[in-house]
Amino acid sequence: MERVIIRGVGSYLPDCVLSNTDLESMVDTTHEWIVTRTGIESRRICLDTEMASDLGYEAARKALENAHIATCDIDLIIVATMTPDMQFPATACIIQKKLGCSDIPCFDIGAACSGFIYAMDVGRNFLLSNPAMKNVLLIGTEKISSILDWEDRSTCILFGDGAGAVVLSRNWDNSDAGIWDILIGADGRCASMLHCSGWGASVPVTVENVEQRKYFIRMEGREVFKEAIKRMCVVVEDILLRNHLTVEDIACVIPHQANIRIITAIGERLGIPQEKMFVNLQHKGNTSAASIPIAIDEALKMGRIHTGDLILLVAFGAGMTWGASLIRWK
Ligand code: ACO
Repeated sequence: MERVIIRGVGSYLPDCVLSNTDLESMVDTTHEWIVTRTGIESRRICLDTEMASDLGYEAARKALENAHIATCDIDLIIVATMTPDMQFPATACIIQKKLGCSDIPCFDIGAACSGFIYAMDVGRNFLLSNPAMKNVLLIGTEKISSILDWEDRSTCILFGDGAGAVVLSRNWDNSDAGIWDILIGADGRCASMLHCSGWGASVPVTVENVEQRKYFIRMEGREVFKEAIKRMCVVVEDILLRNHLTVEDIACVIPHQANIRIITAIGERLGIPQEKMFVNLQHKGNTSAASIPIAIDEALKMGRIHTGDLILLVAFGAGMTWGASLIRWK
């Protein structure tokens, strides 16, 4: 059976660190409140001149190097982001120009924090259905600091900027290594729970809309929290069931890095020991579509993923959207 493997991984974070102590001087909060309620201690923030395409480009270069392939070997670029450099063209096209690999198709995917798993499903299907394609570059990149309301303590403490990338290729060696399965879903009835209405056609640029701070993230935190746990538990159960697996078969779970309490809750509900759950949100915060590829890169560097391991990725995001992916590591 032909499968698609993750052939290379890379990530990139901006240099500037914003600690909880820094936030104490910006909004009415404390380091202790943020750590207790979220697990986050600090996050990286872009400079004004740094864009999602810059972070994505750096992560892509590292992933290509790690995969030992040249830019001319990429057949398609998919970027998952909710903070594109501009409305159009797609950030994927901007990154293509930076990489210097013209003429291959490029597009963005908007599924918020689940975007990387959505992109993985699309990229895998391109490879499986089009024999002319050999390598697909997937990038999750976010400059979330650009849509944060730095006067809203309930959201500005949660997020960070960053990028991660992977190269997907066909599995040449006929082993069972590769992406075994991907499951994605969405419930648009929850769209208003977490949104940023500005920048869209429904919110024209008027002084009134700017004054009403419509260009920033708005979130019903408690509702998102409950929905996230529910949806991630169900999608993990479903993907395990349809592959005749149990949590004991999984070596490492890489969940979307939103909140340590969400990760702990899904671990407890599904009976996954905490030591199998990969967590790196302490110094990154929630980097949305970049969170999973950054975490894969870090888990590999920390020796948390080995050849032959079954790993499980699981995410949720605005929409609500969700997704899970089951991978036998090469
Ligand atoms: N510092 C101090 N106090 C705060 C802060 C803060 N930064 N933020 C909120 N509070 C206060 C609230 O005002 C409230 O005070 P009150 O009781 O006087 O009204 C109190 O703390 C409790 O607020 P809650 O919202 O109930 O706190 P909760 O325990 O739910 O934690 C949090 C809030 C961390 C936002 C949590 O709800 C959460 O993590 N939700 C999920 C968010 C998430 O994952 N979003 C990303 C989705 S992915 C994507 O697609 C982008």
